[in-house]
Amino acid sequence: MSIHFDPANLSAAMVGDEHGLTLADLREGATAGLDALSGFHKLVDDGKYGFPHLPFDTGTVKDIQTYADKLRGSYDTVCVVGIGGSALGAWALDCALRGPHPVQAAFSPKNPRLVILDNVDPSFMLAAIDSMNPKKTLVVVIAKSGATAETVATFLIVRAWLEKALGKKTRQRIVAVTSEHRGDLKALATKEDYTTFHLPDNVGGRFSVLSAVGLVPAALCGFNIRKIAKGAAAQTGLCWKDDLAQNTALSAAVHHWLIWTRRNKTIQVAFPYANKLWGLAFWFRQLWAESLGKKNNRTGEVVHVGQTPVAALGTTDQHSQVQLYMEGPNDKMFSFWTVKKFDDPGRIPKVKTGFEAMDYLPGQSLAKLLDAEQRSTAAALTETGRPNCTFTLDRLDAEHIGAFLQLLEFETAFAGELLNIDAFDQEGVELGKKFTFALMGRKGFGEYSDRFKAYEAKRSK
Ligand code: PA5
Repeated sequence: MSIHFDPANLSAAMVGDEHGLTLADLREGATAGLDALSGFHKLVDDGKYGFPHLPFDTGTVKDIQTYADKLRGSYDTVCVVGIGGSALGAWALDCALRGPHPVQAAFSPKNPRLVILDNVDPSFMLAAIDSMNPKKTLVVVIAKSGATAETVATFLIVRAWLEKALGKKTRQRIVAVTSEHRGDLKALATKEDYTTFHLPDNVGGRFSVLSAVGLVPAALCGFNIRKIAKGAAAQTGLCWKDDLAQNTALSAAVHHWLIWTRRNKTIQVAFPYANKLWGLAFWFRQLWAESLGKKNNRTGEVVHVGQTPVAALGTTDQHSQVQLYMEGPNDKMFSFWTVKKFDDPGRIPKVKTGFEAMDYLPGQSLAKLLDAEQRSTAAALTETGRPNCTFTLDRLDAEHIGAFLQLLEFETAFAGELLNIDAFDQEGVELGKKFTFALMGRKGFGEYSDRFKAYEAKRSK
């Protein structure tokens, strides 16, 4: 298993002093990086943050696998009801390990599909429900808080839909993933006797893909969760090394932090050159945005820090975004995600057409073209002073995906330390949630109802 990080095109030598990092920057970054590593290590040792331990929880992996093996063959659809950190990891794993929609193999009890209900748009929800057979669907309801309005509303609809078809057997087709000691989802799961898996209290939603949150849907879809955990465990060992040459997550965090804060690159484009990594780019978007977009630093100072993550797909978005990336404001840095070896390189038939724009391609492969396009885009961006770096996964398999997820989580945690912020809270989403509760008539939110009325009165003037 190997994931390589190439930061050369972030250097001043490649993109110039105004936009690239100098040796002095890198020396400063290395010292700060080692402080960030020891700071984060201490927080993990103190039990504050738990995601680094997840790949070593072999008991949970075994329990999930046993549960999935018991049910295998009795369903053709896994329906995840969850949102944000309770949905994006499952999507990233499904996309990476089975393939992106709409080119996944036909679904069947041997190859169950994953349907993720992570929005309350009624036209989407009702169409998704219509596409599933309640007798062949396993519902995985996921909410760490057990109280997210979208998840609860969707689950109530899905549960009623199951009940109509299955009556008393409904409970056998529902599995819950939630906190062990709190929340109404836990209470309902206990009352109705659903199989339930828990995520540790010290693991936040967006850092939970390697807990039951991501592994239950993955195991039910038939992916090798032991290998996902194995890759992530091996990566964790590297993430604790105090040598930047070996610790890719720390090196990437230092480089990203420097280019963002010292060269004002306030946007990061996560740019996979592999459709299978597209879901992972959206998972990363949440991880980076919600973890590192903060009003206050740890000492309470108002900093309004954040780097906006954007997902782009190579080569597709070369034909929609790269014009902006090349000639628009130089406020971005680019993180290419590439794959060294595809299972099948996709040979182009050795048949000449007699046309010049076509006859250089026969006998070559799509993998070679994809690689050439990525390296050309990196070279073009570099020539115009646009800093970029590349992560290369040796292959796209369960071990590499587990490792890459863990690497990006560590990178985000280290970046939080470098910025001196709490990367694990999300105060910024709370106010909107409270207004929603007030608007939907939840008890105890009268104060927010009044605030919302005041806001509307102001608008009407
Ligand atoms: O990262 C987070 O904590 C959030 O994005 C949550 O995952 C999201 O809000 C869903 O929360 P819950 O799992 O409680 O429904």
